[in-house]
Amino acid sequence: MRIELPREAERFGSNLFYGVQKIYELDAGSSQDTEFSSQFHVVHKISPEKIYEVESQMAIIIPVKNERLKLLEGVLCGIPHACLPIIVSNSTREPTNRFRMEYNAVDNFCRFAKKRYVIVHQKDDYFSNAFEATHYQEILNEQGMVKNGKAEGMIMGILLAKFLGKKYVGFIDADNFFPGAVFEYIRIYSSTFASANSIFSMTRILWHSKPKVIDSNLFFAKWGRVTRITNNYLNRLISLYTGFETDVIKTGNAGEHAMSIDLAMLLDYSAGFSIETYHFINLIEQFGGILESKHPDVMQNAVEIYQVESRNPHLHEVKNEEHIKEMIEHSLSVIFHSPISPSELKKEILRELKKLKIIEKENSPIQPTTYKALQSIDLHKFFCKIDLTKYCNFSTN
Ligand code: GDP
Ligand code: CO
Repeated sequence: MRIELPREAERFGSNLFYGVQKIYELDAGSSQDTEFSSQFHVVHKISPEKIYEVESQMAIIIPVKNERLKLLEGVLCGIPHACLPIIVSNSTREPTNRFRMEYNAVDNFCRFAKKRYVIVHQKDDYFSNAFEATHYQEILNEQGMVKNGKAEGMIMGILLAKFLGKKYVGFIDADNFFPGAVFEYIRIYSSTFASANSIFSMTRILWHSKPKVIDSNLFFAKWGRVTRITNNYLNRLISLYTGFETDVIKTGNAGEHAMSIDLAMLLDYSAGFSIETYHFINLIEQFGGILESKHPDVMQNAVEIYQVESRNPHLHEVKNEEHIKEMIEHSLSVIFHSPISPSELKKEILRELKKLKIIEKENSPIQPTTYKALQSIDLHKFFCKIDLTKYCNFSTN
C-alpha cells in the first residue's frame, strides 16, 4: 500500500487529528524504494510483511441485523485471510431463524476459505449474564437482555477481540455491496497501524464517493447529508477552542473505522448510531486537556486519529428518510450534551435541528445513553460466563 503522509494535523490536548490522506497504490510492490530513505518523502510505502503482521493481530467486527446473506458473504470474502472476523448478529430468530441461516452461511463460507471465525447473537443470555455479573447493566434492557443497537453489538465484539488477545479491532458493516471496498478499508486500517507512532490510535475511512442513479446516469456523490452536518459541528467545536477555523474533520460518521485495542478499551461509547460521532467527543473529553484526564499516562503519549480516503466507491443498502433524520439527531445530540460543548455551539445545533424540523421549538435533542469504558469490566469474570466452544468456530486454518 502506498499512502500519502498527512499534510496537516490539528492538535487538541493529546489528540492528533490528522488531515485526510490519499491512497496512491493499493499494492506498492515488495522491492525497497530508495526514496524512502530521504526525510523529505511525502508518500509512505507499507511493506506486505508489516501489513501481514498487523492483520494477524486484528479482529474485524461485523455488526449485522437482518441483512441479505449474499451481502454478508461478499463482506467475508473481502476480509484478508490473516484477520479474524467476529460477527455480532441481532437478526431475528422467529418466525424464520435468520441467525441460524447466517451461522450456516458463515460456517460454510469459512470452510471453503479455510478461515477461522466467531459468530455470536446479541440476545444470547450468556452475554446478558456476563454483563450482569460484571456490573455493566446499562447495556441491558428491562427484560435483562442486551439492548438493540449497532453500538451494543460493537461493544460485544470489542470484548471478544480483547479476550482473544487481538491488538486491533476494525469495523465493517454487513450491508456493503463491494468486497473490493471491504478489502481496501481493511488494508487502510492495517497500513495506518503499521506506521502509527502511538499505541493509542484510530483510523477512519472517508468514502471516495457514493454512487447514485440520477436521470439514468451514475452520479458519484462525495458528501452525504448526515456527514456534511456532523463534520461541520465537530469542526466548529475545535475552532471555538483553538480560535482558528478548521475543516480537518471529514469522518464524523465513519462506520468504517478501526482502533488499537488499548484505545478501544479506554473510550466511553454512545448508544445506537451516535457511536461514531461520539468517538471524537469522547477523545476530546478524555484527552483534550479541558477536563481532567483519568489517564495521565495516555496524556503523556499522543492519541493519533487517521482519516484516509478510499479509492473504491461505497455502495450499501439504501435507508429511508427517517433513518437519516435519526442519524442527524443522534450525531448532533452527543455534541450538544457534552460538558465540553460551548454555549455558542449549543445554540447553533439547536438552530440546525429546528431548521431541519427534527426537534420542536422548546425541546432539546435526546440524550443517547453512554456506556462507560470497557476497561472497568473484569474480563476474567465476564468470560467465565461465556461458553466459547459454543461461539468460536475455529474451523481449519
Ligand atoms: P448506515 O449504513 O450507517 O446507514 O446503517 P445500517 O443500517 O446499514 O447499519 C450499519 C450496520 O449495523 C449494518 O451492518 C447493520 O446490519 C448493523 N446493525 C444495525 N442495527 C444493529 C443492531 O441492533 N445490532 C447489530 N449487531 N447490528 C446492527
Ligand atoms: Co449501511
